[in-house]
Amino acid sequence: MKPKVLITRKVLPEALDYLKEHVDYEVGADDRNLTKQEIIEKICGKEGLLSLLVDTIDKEVLDSTKSLKIIANCAVGYNNIDIKEANKKGILVTNTPGVLTETTADLTWALILAVARRIPESDRFTRSKKFKGWELDLFLGKEITGKRLGIIGMGRIGKAVASRAQAFKMEIVYSDPNRLSPEEENTYTATRLSLEELLSTADIITIHASLTPETFHLLSREKMALIKKDAILVNVARGPLVDETALAQALEKRRIWGAGLDVYEREPEIEEKLFTLDNAVLLPHIGSASYETRLKMAMMAARNLVQGLRGEQPDNLVV
Ligand code: DGY
Repeated sequence: MKPKVLITRKVLPEALDYLKEHVDYEVGADDRNLTKQEIIEKICGKEGLLSLLVDTIDKEVLDSTKSLKIIANCAVGYNNIDIKEANKKGILVTNTPGVLTETTADLTWALILAVARRIPESDRFTRSKKFKGWELDLFLGKEITGKRLGIIGMGRIGKAVASRAQAFKMEIVYSDPNRLSPEEENTYTATRLSLEELLSTADIITIHASLTPETFHLLSREKMALIKKDAILVNVARGPLVDETALAQALEKRRIWGAGLDVYEREPEIEEKLFTLDNAVLLPHIGSASYETRLKMAMMAARNLVQGLRGEQPDNLVV
């Protein structure tokens, strides 16, 4: 008998084909996220769970199952899972690191450029047939080349963002609890600063930190007050790293020049004020959303799941 598995929401067909060979799966829903209650109901009797970053797998969910052996999260971040509780119960947890690094770094740059050069605003203007000819001061934006880029969280994605910044001849500074080796600092031409120094001196600030209880509101109202008035803030990591209400107010009052957001504090809800601001570019959490990358993520999660169910050590165990 194949082990029973819950896949909370439909994943790409290639991953389903692979899983079909190894497990007996139930897909929670095709086109919506399951509620926590639905996960609790559907997880009953399942040995494996393929979860997405929108699924809350907390103590209540974990307490509801005696059969679960492995949770394969289809994301690099795993803030949606109570890892300590899972470990206590001997349930393995895996994630999908590495495969989305470059894709997410690309989207970070897309957002930086979109905000700096006011691309969505210019597009809206052109579509509404307001373009009456070239003007010297039409949609003046911000220069990127030669500016100071502040990277908060210098892990895999932070470093990939830094590599791309070298093409823009930027000065790269970073803040991270761990210092890079001198060789890596040399490779990325990056200088480590305190978070406060970074915020008060960078022209473009981009966040790539993990969300943990310690990093919740890493950019609090007070910390955001340090940011230069003409700076740009980009967040493609996790929404709760930033106090979204304080950010919206700062953008409205032009205490920060512009922001590019792919993630939100209470997804899918978004601070209402942000919708009204031209200096905010808003995306629907698509950092890793290229077909190739999402396929790699789904296949990686599926393989981790099968490895764990076979009693093997999964490739991407979260410890
Ligand atoms: C992740 O994997 O954590 C990303 O946010 C998915 O886009």
